[in-house]
Amino acid sequence: MKENFFTLRTVMWDEGRVKMIDQTLLPGRFVYRSFARWEEVADAIRRLVVRGAPAIGVAAAMGIATAAVNSKATTRAQLQLELERAASGLRATRPTAVNLFWGIDRVMAVASRSKDVEGAREAVVQEVLKMADEDVEACKRLGRFGADLVEDGDTVITQCNAGALATVGYGTALGVIRAASEQGKCVKVIVPETRPALQGSRLTAFELSADGFSCTIVSDTAVGSMMQSGKVDLAIVGADRVTKDGYVFNKIGTYQVAVLAKRHEIPFYPAAPTSSFDLKRTHDQVTIEERPADEVVKIRGRRIAPKGVPVANPAFDMTPPELVTAIVTDQGIIKSPVQDNISTVIR
Ligand code: MRU
Repeated sequence: MKENFFTLRTVMWDEGRVKMIDQTLLPGRFVYRSFARWEEVADAIRRLVVRGAPAIGVAAAMGIATAAVNSKATTRAQLQLELERAASGLRATRPTAVNLFWGIDRVMAVASRSKDVEGAREAVVQEVLKMADEDVEACKRLGRFGADLVEDGDTVITQCNAGALATVGYGTALGVIRAASEQGKCVKVIVPETRPALQGSRLTAFELSADGFSCTIVSDTAVGSMMQSGKVDLAIVGADRVTKDGYVFNKIGTYQVAVLAKRHEIPFYPAAPTSSFDLKRTHDQVTIEERPADEVVKIRGRRIAPKGVPVANPAFDMTPPELVTAIVTDQGIIKSPVQDNISTVIR
């Protein structure tokens, strides 16, 4: 079967289980896996089986729904304890994408409003179904706003994977590209490989080529050269968290794309749904996830660097607002200076 990422869903609720594409196997194998317990969902989030900020937000919420469905609690208080245990286990998986916490908080708030066990179970399941649908709709709205920034014939550079695979469906940065294409514009995409986990070459290139987009993989070290030689018209990336002071946290490497874009007078647009905005925190209050050293010094299990040398593996970086041309959201475009204009768009 040929995948079509315009319509496909990455994360689904399937009769009491969370069904997700196993992204660790891409591009070699396209496999859905089902997870029946919140502990399995937490493990899947940690291992990048499911990844991308909006996708992990909905997956975590569905993890809590599995706890609700599997619970043998007979009292509301018992159920609450079990849900809180699941929530704290899921919260501990990955610290940077705010969507994870947004998803968990939203479903916990719904549960707490129900007076009896059965009502809470039903309310939680209904909420996660709604969240999944809303995520796809938000991406499509965001895509339509962003498509106005893209001209026919443009070449876009992105970073990581902010596509259907990073959301429930359709994508954020790639959602803009999809929407531009749906308007009849021809868009080419430059895909930095995004070391060390290779979300660019493994996932973005897979998703775009499956949908018939013209895309070129480059090494992360080629980004400056591509811009210098005039091959890039604009940069569109995703976001794991946008803080109230306008800083954009996204996959490691995004900051260097933004700095180089400024140097070459190329517009730099993060694309993020409302669930990626953290209007409570400033940039200095965000934890950047540090991932295992093996991701950097091993490729497919084989060591490629000397033993004993210290390794740093920050999974995300932070782009300051002065490098951001505008942020594309599902509620409209936040123009520069973004730190002053967030509150006029995001409600
Ligand atoms: O570590 P990952 O693969 O979860 O990181 C994903 C990213 O950084 C994406 O660019 C971001 O989540 C935006 S996704 C719509």
